[in-house]
Amino acid sequence: MITLNIRLPGRSYPIQIGDGILERALPELFCGRPAKKAAVVSDETVWSLHGARLEAALRGHGVDFAATILPAGEASKSLNAFERLLRAFARQGLHRNDPVIAFGGGVVGDLAGFAASAFMRGVPFAQIPTTLLAQVDSSVGGKVAVNLPEGKNLVGSFYQPALVIADTGLLASLPRRELNAGLAEVVKYAAIGCDGLLPLLETKAGETPGPDRLARIVELCCVCKAGYVERDERDTGDRMMLNFGHTFGHAVEKYFQFERYNHGEAVAIGMALAARAGLLLGLTPRETLTQITDLLDAAGISDAAPCSPTELIPLMLGDKKSGEGELTLILLRAFGAPFAHKIRPERLLALFADADMRERVKV
Ligand code: GLY
Repeated sequence: MITLNIRLPGRSYPIQIGDGILERALPELFCGRPAKKAAVVSDETVWSLHGARLEAALRGHGVDFAATILPAGEASKSLNAFERLLRAFARQGLHRNDPVIAFGGGVVGDLAGFAASAFMRGVPFAQIPTTLLAQVDSSVGGKVAVNLPEGKNLVGSFYQPALVIADTGLLASLPRRELNAGLAEVVKYAAIGCDGLLPLLETKAGETPGPDRLARIVELCCVCKAGYVERDERDTGDRMMLNFGHTFGHAVEKYFQFERYNHGEAVAIGMALAARAGLLLGLTPRETLTQITDLLDAAGISDAAPCSPTELIPLMLGDKKSGEGELTLILLRAFGAPFAHKIRPERLLALFADADMRERVKV
Protein backbone atom coordinates (compact mmCIF):
# COMPACT_ATOMS: atom_id res chain seq x y z
CA MET A 1 0.00 0.00 0.00
CA ILE A 2 1.34 3.43 -0.93
CA THR A 3 0.52 6.41 1.26
CA LEU A 4 0.68 9.95 -0.11
CA ASN A 5 -0.12 12.98 1.98
CA ILE A 6 -1.92 16.16 1.02
CA ARG A 7 -0.32 18.78 3.21
CA LEU A 8 -2.62 21.68 4.00
CA PRO A 9 -2.53 23.85 7.14
CA GLY A 10 -4.64 22.04 9.74
CA ARG A 11 -6.27 19.80 7.14
CA SER A 12 -3.59 17.37 5.97
CA TYR A 13 -4.80 13.91 5.02
CA PRO A 14 -3.53 10.65 3.56
CA ILE A 15 -4.36 9.03 0.24
CA GLN A 16 -3.90 5.26 0.46
CA ILE A 17 -3.36 3.54 -2.89
CA GLY A 18 -3.10 -0.16 -3.71
CA ASP A 19 -4.82 -3.30 -4.94
CA GLY A 20 -7.21 -4.82 -2.38
CA ILE A 21 -6.41 -2.36 0.42
CA LEU A 22 -9.94 -1.34 1.45
CA GLU A 23 -10.11 -3.48 4.59
CA ARG A 24 -6.58 -2.56 5.73
CA ALA A 25 -6.94 1.16 5.08
CA LEU A 26 -10.35 1.68 6.68
CA PRO A 27 -9.29 1.73 10.39
CA GLU A 28 -7.39 4.97 9.75
CA LEU A 29 -10.77 6.70 9.54
CA PHE A 30 -11.64 5.82 13.11
CA CYS A 31 -8.20 6.35 14.65
CA GLY A 32 -8.46 8.55 17.68
CA ARG A 33 -12.21 8.84 17.35
CA PRO A 34 -14.42 7.25 19.97
CA ALA A 35 -17.46 7.22 17.69
CA LYS A 36 -18.15 4.01 15.82
CA LYS A 37 -20.96 5.25 13.66
CA ALA A 38 -20.83 6.21 9.99
CA ALA A 39 -23.10 7.18 7.11
CA VAL A 40 -22.33 5.49 3.80
CA VAL A 41 -23.36 7.05 0.49
CA SER A 42 -23.18 4.99 -2.69
CA ASP A 43 -25.02 4.34 -5.94
CA GLU A 44 -27.03 1.33 -7.06
CA THR A 45 -24.37 0.02 -9.47
CA VAL A 46 -21.45 0.27 -7.06
CA TRP A 47 -23.46 -1.04 -4.14
CA SER A 48 -24.64 -4.12 -6.05
CA LEU A 49 -21.04 -4.91 -7.06
CA HIS A 50 -19.08 -3.98 -3.94
CA GLY A 51 -21.53 -3.09 -1.16
CA ALA A 52 -21.21 -6.43 0.62
CA ARG A 53 -17.45 -5.94 0.85
CA LEU A 54 -17.67 -2.48 2.42
CA GLU A 55 -20.45 -3.69 4.70
CA ALA A 56 -18.30 -6.59 5.95
CA ALA A 57 -15.28 -4.31 6.41
CA LEU A 58 -17.29 -1.82 8.47
CA ARG A 59 -18.92 -4.52 10.58
CA GLY A 60 -15.49 -6.12 11.05
CA HIS A 61 -14.36 -2.86 12.66
CA GLY A 62 -17.51 -2.69 14.80
CA VAL A 63 -18.93 0.30 12.94
CA ASP A 64 -22.66 0.91 13.10
CA PHE A 65 -23.68 2.43 9.75
CA ALA A 66 -26.64 3.28 7.56
CA ALA A 67 -26.29 3.42 3.77
CA THR A 68 -28.10 5.74 1.37
CA ILE A 69 -28.02 4.24 -2.10
CA LEU A 70 -28.77 6.64 -4.94
CA PRO A 71 -29.56 5.99 -8.60
CA ALA A 72 -26.32 5.88 -10.61
CA GLY A 73 -25.64 8.87 -12.85
CA GLU A 74 -25.18 12.62 -12.99
CA ALA A 75 -28.87 13.28 -12.19
CA SER A 76 -28.12 12.31 -8.58
CA LYS A 77 -25.81 15.29 -8.17
CA SER A 78 -28.78 17.49 -7.36
CA LEU A 79 -30.15 19.65 -4.56
CA ASN A 80 -32.88 17.03 -4.06
CA ALA A 81 -30.33 14.30 -3.44
CA PHE A 82 -28.37 16.69 -1.18
CA GLU A 83 -31.48 17.20 0.98
CA ARG A 84 -32.16 13.46 0.95
CA LEU A 85 -28.69 12.80 2.37
CA LEU A 86 -28.91 15.49 5.05
CA ARG A 87 -32.23 14.12 6.23
CA ALA A 88 -30.89 10.56 6.24
CA PHE A 89 -27.91 11.70 8.36
CA ALA A 90 -30.28 13.45 10.78
CA ARG A 91 -32.61 10.45 11.06
CA GLN A 92 -29.63 8.19 11.66
CA GLY A 93 -28.51 10.43 14.54
CA LEU A 94 -25.12 11.12 12.97
CA HIS A 95 -23.01 13.14 15.39
CA ARG A 96 -20.32 15.74 14.70
CA ASN A 97 -17.45 13.24 14.89
CA ASP A 98 -19.16 10.49 12.87
CA PRO A 99 -17.84 10.24 9.33
CA VAL A 100 -19.65 10.17 6.01
CA ILE A 101 -18.15 7.60 3.64
CA ALA A 102 -18.49 8.31 -0.09
CA PHE A 103 -18.30 4.95 -1.88
CA GLY A 104 -18.60 5.46 -5.63
CA GLY A 105 -17.48 7.60 -8.53
CA GLY A 106 -17.30 11.37 -8.90
CA VAL A 107 -21.04 11.95 -8.56
CA VAL A 108 -21.22 10.16 -5.21
CA GLY A 109 -17.98 11.76 -3.96
CA ASP A 110 -18.98 15.31 -4.89
CA LEU A 111 -22.50 14.98 -3.50
CA ALA A 112 -21.61 13.13 -0.28
CA GLY A 113 -18.69 15.48 0.36
CA PHE A 114 -20.93 18.51 -0.04
CA ALA A 115 -23.52 17.01 2.31
CA ALA A 116 -20.73 16.21 4.84
CA SER A 117 -19.51 19.81 4.59
CA ALA A 118 -22.97 21.16 5.41
CA PHE A 119 -24.32 18.69 7.98
CA MET A 120 -23.86 20.18 11.48
CA ARG A 121 -21.50 22.68 9.78
CA GLY A 122 -19.19 19.86 8.78
CA VAL A 123 -18.61 16.24 9.74
CA PRO A 124 -15.51 14.23 8.71
CA PHE A 125 -15.70 12.38 5.44
CA ALA A 126 -13.79 9.70 3.59
CA GLN A 127 -13.60 9.15 -0.12
CA ILE A 128 -13.49 5.56 -1.35
CA PRO A 129 -13.48 6.19 -5.11
CA THR A 130 -14.54 3.24 -7.26
CA THR A 131 -13.82 4.65 -10.73
CA LEU A 132 -10.49 5.52 -12.30
CA LEU A 133 -11.71 9.06 -12.89
CA ALA A 134 -12.54 9.53 -9.22
CA GLN A 135 -9.29 7.88 -8.07
CA VAL A 136 -7.10 10.13 -10.22
CA ASP A 137 -9.04 13.34 -9.83
CA SER A 138 -12.36 14.05 -8.15
CA SER A 139 -11.75 12.28 -4.82
CA VAL A 140 -8.61 14.34 -4.15
CA GLY A 141 -8.51 18.05 -3.43
CA GLY A 142 -11.77 18.81 -1.65
CA LYS A 143 -13.96 20.16 -4.43
CA VAL A 144 -17.49 19.10 -3.51
CA ALA A 145 -20.65 20.26 -5.23
CA VAL A 146 -24.00 19.60 -6.83
CA ASN A 147 -25.32 20.74 -10.19
CA LEU A 148 -28.13 23.17 -10.92
CA PRO A 149 -30.23 23.01 -14.09
CA GLU A 150 -28.32 26.20 -15.00
CA GLY A 151 -24.90 24.55 -14.85
CA LYS A 152 -22.53 21.97 -13.49
CA ASN A 153 -21.08 22.23 -9.96
CA LEU A 154 -22.68 25.64 -9.40
CA VAL A 155 -23.34 25.00 -5.69
CA GLY A 156 -20.57 23.61 -3.55
CA SER A 157 -17.57 24.26 -1.38
CA PHE A 158 -13.97 23.30 -0.73
CA TYR A 159 -14.08 20.63 1.94
CA GLN A 160 -11.15 18.27 2.30
CA PRO A 161 -11.73 14.62 3.14
CA ALA A 162 -10.10 13.06 6.19
CA LEU A 163 -8.94 10.07 4.15
CA VAL A 164 -8.94 8.82 0.55
CA ILE A 165 -8.75 5.07 -0.08
CA ALA A 166 -7.99 4.33 -3.75
CA ASP A 167 -8.31 0.56 -3.91
CA THR A 168 -7.34 -0.13 -7.52
CA GLY A 169 -8.81 -3.65 -7.19
CA LEU A 170 -12.25 -1.98 -7.32
CA LEU A 171 -11.48 -0.91 -10.90
CA ALA A 172 -11.53 -4.50 -12.20
CA SER A 173 -15.31 -4.38 -12.57
CA LEU A 174 -15.32 -1.06 -14.45
CA PRO A 175 -16.85 -1.16 -17.93
CA ARG A 176 -14.35 -0.14 -20.63
CA ARG A 177 -16.27 3.08 -21.22
CA GLU A 178 -15.80 4.13 -17.58
CA LEU A 179 -12.14 3.15 -17.62
CA ASN A 180 -11.64 5.29 -20.72
CA ALA A 181 -13.30 8.23 -19.01
CA GLY A 182 -10.61 7.99 -16.35
CA LEU A 183 -7.86 7.56 -18.92
CA ALA A 184 -8.98 10.82 -20.56
CA GLU A 185 -8.21 12.59 -17.26
CA VAL A 186 -4.86 10.81 -17.16
CA VAL A 187 -4.08 12.17 -20.65
CA LYS A 188 -4.97 15.59 -19.22
CA TYR A 189 -2.42 15.17 -16.41
CA ALA A 190 0.24 14.18 -18.97
CA ALA A 191 -0.68 17.13 -21.19
CA ILE A 192 -0.29 19.63 -18.36
CA GLY A 193 3.13 18.27 -17.49
CA CYS A 194 2.72 15.66 -14.75
CA ASP A 195 5.80 13.49 -14.62
CA GLY A 196 6.08 9.86 -15.59
CA LEU A 197 2.69 9.31 -17.21
CA LEU A 198 3.60 9.25 -20.89
CA PRO A 199 5.24 5.78 -20.95
CA LEU A 200 2.24 4.40 -19.05
CA LEU A 201 -0.16 5.81 -21.65
CA GLU A 202 1.76 4.83 -24.75
CA THR A 203 0.32 1.34 -25.07
CA LYS A 204 -0.89 -0.75 -27.98
CA ALA A 205 -4.16 0.67 -29.30
CA GLY A 206 -7.08 -0.16 -27.02
CA GLU A 207 -4.98 -2.27 -24.61
CA THR A 208 -6.44 -2.33 -21.08
CA PRO A 209 -3.86 -1.33 -18.46
CA GLY A 210 -3.26 -4.10 -15.91
CA PRO A 211 -3.57 -3.64 -12.11
CA ASP A 212 0.08 -2.68 -11.54
CA ARG A 213 0.02 -0.10 -14.28
CA LEU A 214 -3.27 1.30 -12.98
CA ALA A 215 -1.91 1.59 -9.44
CA ARG A 216 1.15 3.46 -10.76
CA ILE A 217 -1.07 5.73 -12.89
CA VAL A 218 -3.26 6.55 -9.85
CA GLU A 219 -0.16 7.23 -7.74
CA LEU A 220 1.45 9.57 -10.31
CA CYS A 221 -1.79 11.49 -10.91
CA CYS A 222 -2.37 11.88 -7.16
CA VAL A 223 1.22 13.06 -6.61
CA CYS A 224 0.70 15.65 -9.32
CA LYS A 225 -2.71 16.71 -8.06
CA ALA A 226 -1.43 16.95 -4.48
CA GLY A 227 1.11 19.52 -5.67
CA TYR A 228 -1.55 21.65 -7.35
CA VAL A 229 -3.88 21.45 -4.35
CA GLU A 230 -1.11 22.32 -1.86
CA ARG A 231 -0.03 25.30 -3.95
CA ASP A 232 -3.53 26.61 -4.64
CA GLU A 233 -6.28 24.92 -2.65
CA ARG A 234 -8.96 27.47 -3.60
CA ASP A 235 -8.38 27.27 -7.36
CA THR A 236 -7.46 30.88 -7.99
CA GLY A 237 -4.21 30.32 -9.89
CA ASP A 238 -2.09 27.28 -10.52
CA ARG A 239 -4.85 24.73 -9.78
CA MET A 240 -6.79 26.06 -12.75
CA MET A 241 -4.34 24.16 -14.99
CA LEU A 242 -6.20 21.00 -13.93
CA ASN A 243 -9.11 22.37 -15.94
CA PHE A 244 -7.40 21.81 -19.26
CA GLY A 245 -10.19 20.57 -21.58
CA HIS A 246 -12.88 21.18 -18.96
CA THR A 247 -14.38 24.47 -20.16
CA PHE A 248 -15.17 23.00 -23.57
CA GLY A 249 -15.88 19.63 -21.90
CA HIS A 250 -18.52 21.01 -19.54
CA ALA A 251 -20.18 22.72 -22.52
CA VAL A 252 -20.26 19.39 -24.41
CA GLU A 253 -21.89 17.69 -21.41
CA LYS A 254 -24.43 20.50 -21.12
CA TYR A 255 -25.16 20.61 -24.88
CA PHE A 256 -26.23 16.96 -24.67
CA GLN A 257 -28.03 17.44 -21.33
CA PHE A 258 -25.51 15.25 -19.50
CA GLU A 259 -26.93 12.21 -21.30
CA ARG A 260 -24.73 11.39 -24.30
CA TYR A 261 -21.22 11.83 -22.90
CA ASN A 262 -19.78 11.03 -19.52
CA HIS A 263 -17.39 13.55 -17.96
CA GLY A 264 -14.19 11.91 -19.21
CA GLU A 265 -15.49 11.57 -22.77
CA ALA A 266 -16.47 15.24 -22.75
CA VAL A 267 -13.04 16.22 -21.37
CA ALA A 268 -11.35 14.27 -24.20
CA ILE A 269 -13.35 16.28 -26.75
CA GLY A 270 -12.67 19.42 -24.72
CA MET A 271 -8.89 18.88 -24.73
CA ALA A 272 -8.82 18.49 -28.50
CA LEU A 273 -10.94 21.66 -28.85
CA ALA A 274 -8.77 23.62 -26.43
CA ALA A 275 -5.66 22.55 -28.35
CA ARG A 276 -7.39 23.60 -31.57
CA ALA A 277 -8.33 26.95 -30.05
CA GLY A 278 -4.67 27.42 -29.09
CA LEU A 279 -3.63 26.52 -32.61
CA LEU A 280 -6.08 29.02 -34.14
CA LEU A 281 -4.77 31.68 -31.76
CA GLY A 282 -1.20 30.90 -32.82
CA LEU A 283 -0.34 29.90 -29.24
CA THR A 284 -0.27 26.10 -29.49
CA PRO A 285 1.88 24.22 -32.00
CA ARG A 286 0.15 21.72 -34.30
CA GLU A 287 2.33 18.88 -33.01
CA THR A 288 0.89 19.42 -29.51
CA LEU A 289 -2.63 18.96 -30.84
CA THR A 290 -1.46 15.81 -32.66
CA GLN A 291 0.22 14.46 -29.53
CA ILE A 292 -3.01 14.81 -27.54
CA THR A 293 -5.19 13.20 -30.19
CA ASP A 294 -2.64 10.37 -30.65
CA LEU A 295 -2.65 9.63 -26.90
CA LEU A 296 -6.44 9.62 -26.80
CA ASP A 297 -6.54 7.36 -29.88
CA ALA A 298 -4.08 4.94 -28.27
CA ALA A 299 -6.35 4.70 -25.24
CA GLY A 300 -9.33 4.12 -27.57
CA ILE A 301 -10.99 7.43 -26.69
CA SER A 302 -12.74 9.52 -29.32
CA ASP A 303 -12.02 13.24 -29.42
CA ALA A 304 -14.25 13.96 -32.42
CA ALA A 305 -16.31 17.07 -31.76
CA PRO A 306 -20.01 16.10 -32.06
CA CYS A 307 -21.11 19.63 -32.93
CA SER A 308 -19.54 22.84 -34.09
CA PRO A 309 -17.48 24.58 -31.39
CA THR A 310 -19.48 27.70 -32.22
CA GLU A 311 -22.53 26.00 -30.67
CA LEU A 312 -20.61 25.27 -27.48
CA ILE A 313 -19.17 28.72 -26.82
CA PRO A 314 -22.46 30.33 -25.66
CA LEU A 315 -22.84 27.49 -23.14
CA MET A 316 -19.38 28.18 -21.75
CA LEU A 317 -20.52 31.54 -20.37
CA GLY A 318 -22.42 29.82 -17.55
CA ASP A 319 -19.22 28.05 -16.46
CA LYS A 320 -17.79 29.00 -13.06
CA LYS A 321 -14.51 29.89 -14.73
CA SER A 322 -16.04 32.63 -16.89
CA GLY A 323 -16.21 36.13 -15.53
CA GLU A 324 -16.68 39.73 -16.58
CA GLY A 325 -17.56 38.78 -20.13
CA GLU A 326 -14.37 36.78 -20.59
CA LEU A 327 -13.61 33.09 -20.68
CA THR A 328 -10.52 31.66 -19.07
CA LEU A 329 -9.22 28.85 -21.24
CA ILE A 330 -6.34 26.63 -20.23
CA LEU A 331 -4.14 26.32 -23.31
CA LEU A 332 -0.81 24.62 -23.99
CA ARG A 333 2.25 26.43 -25.30
CA ALA A 334 3.74 22.96 -25.76
CA PHE A 335 2.85 19.48 -24.55
CA GLY A 336 3.36 19.66 -20.77
CA ALA A 337 3.29 23.48 -20.62
CA PRO A 338 -0.18 24.83 -19.71
CA PHE A 339 -1.16 28.44 -19.18
CA ALA A 340 -4.36 30.40 -18.55
CA HIS A 341 -5.59 32.56 -21.41
CA LYS A 342 -8.45 35.05 -21.13
CA ILE A 343 -10.51 35.57 -24.24
CA ARG A 344 -13.75 37.26 -25.11
CA PRO A 345 -16.34 34.74 -26.30
CA GLU A 346 -17.03 36.78 -29.48
CA ARG A 347 -13.37 36.45 -30.45
CA LEU A 348 -13.37 32.69 -29.84
CA LEU A 349 -16.62 32.35 -31.80
CA ALA A 350 -15.18 34.32 -34.72
CA LEU A 351 -12.02 32.19 -34.75
CA PHE A 352 -13.91 28.90 -34.90
CA ALA A 353 -16.55 30.24 -37.34
CA ASP A 354 -13.78 31.38 -39.67
CA ALA A 355 -11.96 28.04 -39.36
CA ASP A 356 -15.20 26.10 -40.01
CA MET A 357 -15.84 28.18 -43.11
CA ARG A 358 -12.33 27.59 -44.43
CA GLU A 359 -12.79 23.85 -43.80
CA ARG A 360 -16.05 23.84 -45.79
CA VAL A 361 -14.55 25.76 -48.69
CA LYS A 362 -11.68 23.26 -48.82
CA VAL A 363 -14.20 20.39 -49.12
N1 GLY B 1 -10.86 18.57 -11.01
C1 GLY B 1 -10.07 19.73 -10.97
C2 GLY B 1 -9.71 20.17 -9.58
O1 GLY B 1 -9.88 19.42 -8.63
O2 GLY B 1 -9.23 21.25 -9.42
